Amino acid sequence: MSNPTDPRQLLGADPHTGNRKIDPVTGYDTTGHDWGGITELNTAFPKVVIWALVLTFLYSVIAWILLPAWPTGRDYTRGLLGLNQGEEAVSDFRDLSEVRQDWLSRFEGENFVALQSDATLMATAMPAAARLFADNCAACHGTNGQGGPGFPVLSDETWLWGDDTEEIATTIRHGINTEDPDTRYAEMPAFDWMERSDRLALAEFVSEMPGGAVDFESSVGTVFAENCSSCHGSTGAGGLEIGAPSLTDEAVIYGQNPGTVMQTLRRGRHGVMPAWNGRLSEAEINLLALYVARLGQPAGGGQ
Ligand code: HEC
Ligand code: HEC
Repeated sequence: MSNPTDPRQLLGADPHTGNRKIDPVTGYDTTGHDWGGITELNTAFPKVVIWALVLTFLYSVIAWILLPAWPTGRDYTRGLLGLNQGEEAVSDFRDLSEVRQDWLSRFEGENFVALQSDATLMATAMPAAARLFADNCAACHGTNGQGGPGFPVLSDETWLWGDDTEEIATTIRHGINTEDPDTRYAEMPAFDWMERSDRLALAEFVSEMPGGAVDFESSVGTVFAENCSSCHGSTGAGGLEIGAPSLTDEAVIYGQNPGTVMQTLRRGRHGVMPAWNGRLSEAEINLLALYVARLGQPAGGGQ
């Protein structure tokens, strides 16, 4: 009976039926598939997988019934729960902007003193002002109004056009050197006609002004008095509120090293601050003016 070449016997085929092949190690049926001596066990499909399949199928059927699911051409099946996330988002947004309109409308008038003294209102409004500033102004003036080459610092106490919130609002509304009919106008004329030696001496003189050690009685001091003081003030301290910066403080727009001053003198300067009239609402402009005015305040400015 024993036949060593019969694979069923090698695998321990069932002696009664002679058909079922039992794996001698695990005692399981085998499927009869044999790959060079490696046989496939005939184990049951795991129940947990079957249940997971059944449950996900049931869930999908329930979801089709309860939730929006199937497109029907222009429309879609609504589902018994009547959920609509699109409408929810729109109505949430409407609620939010109604709340915002409520307090924002209080900034339409220019009664800055009253607005400023309303601490609750300012606490609500300043975060929104900071976002407006980040979206519209930070690209030029820096995230915290710290300025950059060609763009004045807004977070210090020196102002080209005065520190009144009204003045700041006017600058924001109409801009500087813009097409707006009420634009502020400020130009540093070119002094390319001036002797180069005078310009070099002036550049040196101006670069030493922030240190304070300059002599207005000297010959270069006289050149300054004749050509520059009408706009920058007799001591170069600015403050005339005609857009000419102080040359004596540390705040600079373009730079006050001799090389940069030589460029300023040769070509002049004509910085442009865009007008926001029409691009931002009146209330937003006033809100920003208050925000910028606070940036310039020494202690606790900004917030
Ligand atoms: C495209 C660049 C640019 C953007 C954007 C910009 N500014 Fe200006 N801003 C300038 C320049 C340049 C000047 C200075 C102009 C000059 O040299 O006379 C200026 C000047 C100002 C001044 C006058 C400062 C002073 O000392 O009196 C204020 C205030 C100001 N900007 C506020 C803002 C606010 C608020 C925003 C955002 C709504 C804004 N700016 C957006 C370029 C910009
Ligand atoms: C008609 C008025 C006017 C006269 C005159 C004038 N300036 Fe100016 N100056 C300005 C204005 C306005 C600015 C700012 C320009 C801008 O921001 O675009 C300026 C800017 C400057 C700056 C740049 C300051 C910085 O912060 O980077 C320097 C330096 C300067 N002037 C030096 C001089 C000197 C030196 C003279 C005399 C030879 C002179 N200015 C004459 C109006 C004047």
